[in-house]
Amino acid sequence: MGPVSKGGDASVLLSCHGLHRWFGGVSALDGVSMRIMRGEIFGLVGPNGSGKTTLVNVITGFYPPQRGRVEFEGRDITGIRPHRVTSLRIVRTFQNIALFRGMSVLDNILLGRHVYMRPGALRTALYWWLARKEEVAHRRVVEDIIDFLQLESVRLDPVDVLPIGLQKRVELARALAAEPKLLILDEPMAGMNMEEKEYMARFVLDVHYERGVSVIMIEHQLDVVMGICDRMAVLNYGEKIAEGVPREVVSAPDVVKAYTGLRRSDA
Ligand SMILES: Nc1ncnc2c1ncn2[C@@H]1O[C@H](COP(=O)(O)OP(=O)(O)OP(=O)(O)O)[C@@H](O)[C@H]1O
Ligand SMILES: [Mg+2]
Repeated sequence: MGPVSKGGDASVLLSCHGLHRWFGGVSALDGVSMRIMRGEIFGLVGPNGSGKTTLVNVITGFYPPQRGRVEFEGRDITGIRPHRVTSLRIVRTFQNIALFRGMSVLDNILLGRHVYMRPGALRTALYWWLARKEEVAHRRVVEDIIDFLQLESVRLDPVDVLPIGLQKRVELARALAAEPKLLILDEPMAGMNMEEKEYMARFVLDVHYERGVSVIMIEHQLDVVMGICDRMAVLNYGEKIAEGVPREVVSAPDVVKAYTGLRRSDA
């Protein structure tokens, strides 16, 4: 990780500079630059295959970029490992639900605390009293999140039996357990019905306002993000074709063009 750059703008939380990522002959990201400001909800939209998830993978260290730079709070974090990214309190959710099947809601959320647990601390009999104290503290954080996201009635249920809307909410809960400064949600509303989407939008806003978390929210539907984000960017074939406040972005000619030809329900 590089040094804190001098003279950086403290209101910028995350910045991407000329990111390139290709897979064989496919250019998934083609020189993407953007800035996420502290305290904003930033929408990242684009048609299927436009590079949204790849951008998240590049930011969070899953696939380092072949070219370009990522800075968080003025530090160069390009290419650092995913667990170190999490310890900087950049926390993501996955597009395909990645919960531990067979485990309860409570235990899944508790796993989000692993970033704060010393290796083996919970298992070391010799230090049982220390472990006990730590476990109580972790549980307190988790119970608070369960309450915040209204998961009380399902806390002991195995995650597999829950409807998709609730599973997505458990993923949000697990991400919150890692106490993010920047929360990156990869299509948190995919597969949901309208009512579930409204619920999720409400929770994202609550997380933002009540916990002061900055959010990048990925969606491929424009209307869903427009209503809740402060600013947004649009990707198309790995290129950023627009960035700004939603009202301006949705009427930008390139965006209109990228979204025409899609089914009405997709735009
Ligand atoms: N691990 C990989 N190996 C090969 N190609 C990949 C890989 N990951 C992404 N791609 C390709 O990169 C391009 C961008 O994919 P990406 O998943 O980032 O798009 P997306 O905007 O998230 O799409 P969606 O809306 O479907 O989630 C696609 O052409 C995809 O096939
Ligand atoms: Mg994706």
